[in-house]
Amino acid sequence: MCLHSRSVYRLALSERLSRMGNPWFETVAEAHRRAKKYLPPSVYGAIVGGAQEGLTLADNKAAFGELGFAPHVANLHTDRSQSTSVMGHRVSMPVIVSPTGIQGVCPEGEVAVARAAANRGTVMSLSSFASRTVEDVVEANPQTFIQLYWSGSREAMIERMDRAKAAGVGGAILTLDWSFSDGRDWGSPAIPEKVDFKTMLAHAPDAARHPRWLMEFLKAKKLPDLTTPNMALPGQESPTFFEAYWEWMQTPPPSWEDIAWLVSEWDGPMMLKGIIRIDDAKRAVDVGMAAISVSNHGGNNLDCTPASIRALGPIAEAVGQEIEVVLDGGIRRGSDVVKALAFGARGVMIGRAGLWGLAANGQAGVENVFDLLRSEIDSALLGLGKASIGDLTREDVVIPPNFELSLGA
Ligand SMILES: Cc1cc2nc3c(=O)[nH]c(=O)nc-3n(C[C@H](O)[C@H](O)[C@H](O)COP(=O)(O)O)c2cc1C
Repeated sequence: MCLHSRSVYRLALSERLSRMGNPWFETVAEAHRRAKKYLPPSVYGAIVGGAQEGLTLADNKAAFGELGFAPHVANLHTDRSQSTSVMGHRVSMPVIVSPTGIQGVCPEGEVAVARAAANRGTVMSLSSFASRTVEDVVEANPQTFIQLYWSGSREAMIERMDRAKAAGVGGAILTLDWSFSDGRDWGSPAIPEKVDFKTMLAHAPDAARHPRWLMEFLKAKKLPDLTTPNMALPGQESPTFFEAYWEWMQTPPPSWEDIAWLVSEWDGPMMLKGIIRIDDAKRAVDVGMAAISVSNHGGNNLDCTPASIRALGPIAEAVGQEIEVVLDGGIRRGSDVVKALAFGARGVMIGRAGLWGLAANGQAGVENVFDLLRSEIDSALLGLGKASIGDLTREDVVIPPNFELSLGA
């Protein structure tokens, strides 16, 4: 069957399966459409995000579309390898989960995402503001990284790190790209302080219009949990999302010396997430980070920051020999992953792609997303004539003039 008729066939099949209620989806874009349909608007709005005008969010995705490929037709490889490692953890593919606070999407929340990542042989990252405990998530996936904020006193940070270490996490991610600029032109969803009977009543009409989402919570006999159990200190109740956010907001931002202190207290592999400039990447090397994530918080931080893929190549060139570099932001297809690897990333992180899968079909939906990415990476490797992701180079990508940005050089 030729490629064109194969894709027409797959499209027709996917439409038929979808009409028959089959939960499998063919692309991340389809998972996104289903997430929008299944989730109440307040939950969907919280996930889709994008600060201010949403320009960075849009650029994260659009920038990948500006990059091309020039595929071969012969001497292609029958066996193609995707395995690699991130901060010392073997992964079966160059894609790991980005930390996201996802309280209201489905009752299993982060545990479902962690299991899906484990089943697909990759790493889970757990947000500080997650609704499931680090102990539960490490049980679901022993390859879990805990995400930290610079929040609270030094003693509180040590307590939280000790708890994560005792739970058995395999690394830490320090997220620093946040400037509390969360106004959105299209409106922010109203997030309740906590979900109790009164809030459920207030949101009942919205929830009733999304029966599938509601049924999942009814079946699990649970309400969406808006607390942050991993921010609790010993003997404390779990703070609400807003209490945790308030503590973070009130904490003076860290200096590079503070960050070096945190790295030495952690005493294990740590990734600095949110790097977009070469000078900051070099400082991350100096303070002893094991990895950096070239990221703009998925367009949720300072709007008008360029797409992370535009900054990746020059950063990887400057520090890639000294530190692991991963790309985060805008990954929706396997070909996006391949472009990032060709620019020097060791792997990528996915945020929304996994969340759309989770909303569309729970744990199986996240596995569906990993399977799509794996198969799309494989197609790109085949077309580009590569036996392994390690063989990818910049020569494999068609890069338009002025695409790459050397920020802070
Ligand atoms: C709903 C949502 C919640 C997020 N929560 C966190 C968080 O708690 N900690 C963090 O470091 N990043 C958080 N992020 C940012 C993601 O880790 C990641 O940087 C971003 O989603 C990557 O972009 P992508 O969604 O285009 O893949 C969040 C992103 C989204 C969409």
